Amino acid sequence: MDRLTPAELRELFLFERLDDAQLEWLAAHGHIETREAGTPVLTEGDAATCFFVLLEGTVALCRTIGGQRIEVSRSEQRGSYFGATQAYLELDQPTYQMTVESITATSMLQFDADEFGPMIRTWFPMAMHLLEGLFWGMRNTQATVGQHERLTALGALSAGLTHELNNPAAAAVRATAALRERVAGMRHKLALLAQGALDPAELPALVKLQEKAVEQVAKAPKLSPLETSDAEDEVSDWLDDHGITGGWELAPVLVAGGLDVEWLETSLRPCPAAITGSAVYWLRYTVETEMLMNEIEDATTRVSTLVGAAKQYSQMDRAPFQVVDVHELLDSTLVMFGGKLGDVRVVKDYDRDLPRISAFAGELNQVWTNMIDNALSAMGGAGTLTVRTFAEDRNLVVEIGDTGPGIPPEVKGRIFEPFFTTKPVGEGTGLGLEISWRIVVNKHHGDIRVESVPGDTRFQVRLPLEATGS
Ligand SMILES: Nc1ncnc2c1ncn2[C@@H]1O[C@H](COP(=O)(O)OP(=O)(O)OP(=O)(O)O)[C@@H](O)[C@H]1O
Ligand SMILES: [Mg+2]
Repeated sequence: MDRLTPAELRELFLFERLDDAQLEWLAAHGHIETREAGTPVLTEGDAATCFFVLLEGTVALCRTIGGQRIEVSRSEQRGSYFGATQAYLELDQPTYQMTVESITATSMLQFDADEFGPMIRTWFPMAMHLLEGLFWGMRNTQATVGQHERLTALGALSAGLTHELNNPAAAAVRATAALRERVAGMRHKLALLAQGALDPAELPALVKLQEKAVEQVAKAPKLSPLETSDAEDEVSDWLDDHGITGGWELAPVLVAGGLDVEWLETSLRPCPAAITGSAVYWLRYTVETEMLMNEIEDATTRVSTLVGAAKQYSQMDRAPFQVVDVHELLDSTLVMFGGKLGDVRVVKDYDRDLPRISAFAGELNQVWTNMIDNALSAMGGAGTLTVRTFAEDRNLVVEIGDTGPGIPPEVKGRIFEPFFTTKPVGEGTGLGLEISWRIVVNKHHGDIRVESVPGDTRFQVRLPLEATGS
């Protein structure tokens, strides 16, 4: 096997200033390996068994992200190293973190991780302690940050959602209680009918009338307040003319259901005059129950739309990496903000012709969440939030704009740093944009740009359109 001499090894930056005995050991334990152009050296996920030092040629370091192979870096520098680079850490069953491929014909010095690792530990005990501290420290930070990511998303979700769900849910409860009362009223009327207070022969006519009223409620025109009060006066008068009492109470209900004088005239004409009063009361119950049922339907539909949006937002039961329409993601995120938007005007300017893209949908939602959250807190409750999408240079661009005071130039260079925040203690962790950066740049190979002047701040997220499913 080809080997390097101690003198040659000393030339590699990694081994500079080692003593003769150490270089002897390296010379004896490392051998030269060669690869043809375009062949793999090692594969991500395999057991990390070898440590390599590049001697000649070019290698590419790649990582698989969301099923795609992404080139992370390239090296042609003699002495650069890769493979079992953490062999000295005594990890349990370590694996290669990247795939390395030879771009040109290469030669490398190869060490067995089982021999190389323990030797490093013996040679540099103090450095080992420092490295270990660094390694586990990083791991813990990453775990904390990961947890924070989930919590930010969850926090925005539950705050916005509980608020939004509360209104329709309360409306449905109220309407159901009212409906119960009206149904009891109708039962009472039915009992009267059964007791013969009304001629049973009139019953089919009443049922028919009721059906007509139900149809009318469904197509009741929306009236202006003025039109409404005019129509109510007319109906009231009509009721008076027909000797029906309680017009002031009946008229608003009938008008709301679209039963105006004209309708009452034509529909009640076939009814015997003796039962017109009963028929009108019967109609009132009909209109009321119909409207209450519509209200319940609207409220419960709203609830299930919200739950749908929450599912879309959190990407529950969805594959993490999938083909998505960013507009659906943006919409569901905006729904989650719901009540938190306050008096802020939201302008959506979507290019609906944009293709769908392959993405980590749940994580992109975190990006929008962070940016919208920043925009809202910059505007302090009033202003305009603009969410725009467009295509530019083979990128899909999502722009979140606000009319807040902007980002001061001295702050601008630091906003993506972890833990950088201008918010008071306890309000911001300064991780929002750092997390967004990692999601957009590292995971989606996109880009984030910021333009800011007082009154006009825009965060642009660029996501490459190629290499997507569409
Ligand atoms: N739309 C914006 N307008 C003005 N300043 C902004 C805007 N977005 C971000 N910034 C500035 O960038 C800083 C960092 O933002 P980042 O989202 O990373 O952290 P944060 O919002 O302070 O805290 P966190 O998001 O963790 O709750 C903010 O504190 C703020 O100074
Ligand atoms: Mg933030």
